[in-house]
Amino acid sequence: MERTYVITGAASGIGKATKELLESRGDRVIGADIAGSDITVDLTTREGRETLVTVVETLSGGTIDAVLAVAGLSSPTIATAAVNYFGAVATLEGLRPLLAGSHSPRAVAVTSMASLMPHDDALVTAFLNGNEDEALARAAELAAGSPDEGNLIYGSSKQALSRWVRRQAPTAEWAGAGIPLNAVAPGVVLTPMTAALTATEEARTQLAGMVPMPLNGFFGPESVAQLLAWLSSEENGHLCGQVIFIDGGSDAVIRGDSTW
Ligand SMILES: NC(=O)c1ccc[n+]([C@@H]2O[C@H](COP(=O)([O-])OP(=O)(O)OC[C@H]3O[C@@H](n4cnc5c(N)ncnc54)[C@H](O)[C@@H]3O)[C@@H](O)[C@H]2O)c1
Repeated sequence: MERTYVITGAASGIGKATKELLESRGDRVIGADIAGSDITVDLTTREGRETLVTVVETLSGGTIDAVLAVAGLSSPTIATAAVNYFGAVATLEGLRPLLAGSHSPRAVAVTSMASLMPHDDALVTAFLNGNEDEALARAAELAAGSPDEGNLIYGSSKQALSRWVRRQAPTAEWAGAGIPLNAVAPGVVLTPMTAALTATEEARTQLAGMVPMPLNGFFGPESVAQLLAWLSSEENGHLCGQVIFIDGGSDAVIRGDSTW
């Protein structure tokens, strides 16, 4: 039976590859992005997040089968904090009521192996408290600091999103409503987001030093799309609050057997 999926960040990279894969299987995908997809929304803003819900409601007729929060940025900016955490949470929470009519509802977020990288405690706390004003003020301070400080924004946003998924997945709103909520945490994926970081041999070597990927190295977005498609499929009825590292081994190298 045809399923209806909503994918944010659907105009590029992982979101686009996932949309194409699901459509090739005969499913319906409503894409959302800041430009170039079915719904045009800026998920850094409260208005954009509300518009997403309203337009999906209209286009879907009130019921969807899965929501995939993929949209994100990696720049050391306030916008990264706004879209990666608050945009993703608003997507998942805002569209959750539309999953109620599905007999196999699913939800997935895209975090990152960067969730294991250095982070800023104050920013992560503000994210997890749901305090957007405080989080964006802290992100502004980091963005105005050294490059190392600015880079803490991305890892902090992804750590907080992974922890949000862990906290929320077993609750009445998600597991209790029969909705598996999970996340994927990719390593280096070859998309426009990483194009500059992988453009030269020197840059690739530097990146591989930071993100060890002993299993087959950097890879294309199609591999993440396959995993997202399974996590949001009818077949996944029992995974709850898992952050699945699809990362060529960086998690296993970095955290070793401290996490099992
Ligand atoms: N590429 C990687 O190596 C990698 C690794 C780990 C995690 N990720 C995550 O995967 C997700 C997809 O990244 P990608 O590699 O496909 O990058 P990408 O840049 O190709 O795609 C990201 C998409 O998100 C959209 N987007 C950004 N800000 C938005 C906003 N304010 N409102 C609406 N849409 C917005 C962009 O327009 C773009 O189409 C991101 O969350 C990213 O952090 C990527």
